[in-house]
Amino acid sequence: LSKIEVKLSDIPEGKNMTFKWRGKPLFVRHRTEKEIATEQAVNLSELRDPEHDKDRVTNPKWVIVLGVCTHLGCVPIANAGEYGGYYCPCHGSHYDASGRIRKGPAPLNLEVPYYEFPDDETVVVG
Ligand code: FES
Repeated sequence: LSKIEVKLSDIPEGKNMTFKWRGKPLFVRHRTEKEIATEQAVNLSELRDPEHDKDRVTNPKWVIVLGVCTHLGCVPIANAGEYGGYYCPCHGSHYDASGRIRKGPAPLNLEVPYYEFPDDETVVVG
């Protein structure tokens, strides 16, 4: 299947759910207000792969990224690591709650796929 439809009401605030899309893990994260505020306030000069949070999300409540570490492709663990977003246990890469690389060997932020919200309850990725 080239597209996947995810029902957003199944994902409680503060949780990340993993789906399979085009043979890869896909993360859909329902961020808390605190996570949104933290990520929106990050200074780009702190970032290895500088991207504003607003350029990585369509709706700040929802982070949609591939669950593929940009180092060597392991699947990071959600809500772990020093930045509270994702932690890759293979070689210790820490990502924030926008999926941006903050520490460890990975060179790039977690990839944001193409997606749309056809309505308030649904995201379609692909
Ligand atoms: Fe994630 Fe190496 S594959 S840190």
